[in-house]
Amino acid sequence: MPNIEEIKERIEKFVVESNEHLELFRLEYLSKKSELQSLLGEIKNVAEEKRKDFGQQVNDLKKKAQEFYDNHKSRLESGVTYTSGKIDVTRPAEMISIGSMHPVSIVMNDVCDIFERIGFEPVSGPEIEDDWHLFSALNFPPHHPARDMQDTFFVAMNPDLFLRTHTSSLQVRTMENNRPPIRVICPGRVFRNETITARSHCIFHQVEGLYISENVSFAEMKQVLLHFVKEMFGEETKTRLRPSFFPFTEPSAEMDIECKICGGKGCNVCKYSGWVEILGCGMVDPNVLENCNIDSKKYAGYAFGLGIERMTMLKYRTNDIRLYFENDIRFLKQFAGERK
Ligand code: PHE
Repeated sequence: MPNIEEIKERIEKFVVESNEHLELFRLEYLSKKSELQSLLGEIKNVAEEKRKDFGQQVNDLKKKAQEFYDNHKSRLESGVTYTSGKIDVTRPAEMISIGSMHPVSIVMNDVCDIFERIGFEPVSGPEIEDDWHLFSALNFPPHHPARDMQDTFFVAMNPDLFLRTHTSSLQVRTMENNRPPIRVICPGRVFRNETITARSHCIFHQVEGLYISENVSFAEMKQVLLHFVKEMFGEETKTRLRPSFFPFTEPSAEMDIECKICGGKGCNVCKYSGWVEILGCGMVDPNVLENCNIDSKKYAGYAFGLGIERMTMLKYRTNDIRLYFENDIRFLKQFAGERK
């Protein structure tokens, strides 16, 4: 019994790109001498009980072959060929390139994960901020030079709207809307009117942390930050905590880690000091608690703000922050597979 299915398959796969191909098809499947024609002749020889079924199948096949032929014939006549038509279906498909996560996002997510594992909850807030949330509630006095610490972008000349210069505004928003105990982590993009260099950019990312409860100590904050550095950069990473000043924390400090790029020998990223500042921190100033209607006699807390690009530079040994904003595919695809 000839395999009708097999012939059907051959017909379907037959490639017709020209009139010559079409003629070949006709000779092979539709002419008097074709395989199909001889099958038609066979019908009468098939055992009676199978004849009807067989006849049906052969006739269907013939119909299919004829349709195939007619369709291709009219297509060729209309001038549309696979290769000359508007759509060249024979052209090799372009590879779809699957993107990868940006190194800054990778590090930002890693940071949040580390803090989430010890009970911090992620929150977010607006990039355009008003004076209260960005400065006043954070204890920046109206004409105090501290306000000049950060060069601010104003929004459409409105003196009360700014692109946030730090994520500390989220401390205020969180404390205004929640009662202690509060334990949050706030990732976000920040903006400063700064000259773009290998070390600094006018757009970058921070992750803010805030913990408010009863009996919170500076020592506790220090341990949490040390835990973070070990998780992020490895157990043996050297750190140092330096006294610093921020209007919204008292006492305040900054944490440096050994420069992972030069191994402490000195390079442009650590300004030849061997140390890179990765965060500012401190005990939340009682004035800030009161500004957010939290009783500063009962509650205390700590806050910290981590610079994400700095940490990304250290983690991936990149000596120019501008690479993160140029979106050069050749640079970015090196991070594929770092984090799903
Ligand atoms: N907001 C500070 C900055 O941008 C960092 C900071 C956050 C310091 C929280 C203390 C507490 O530099």
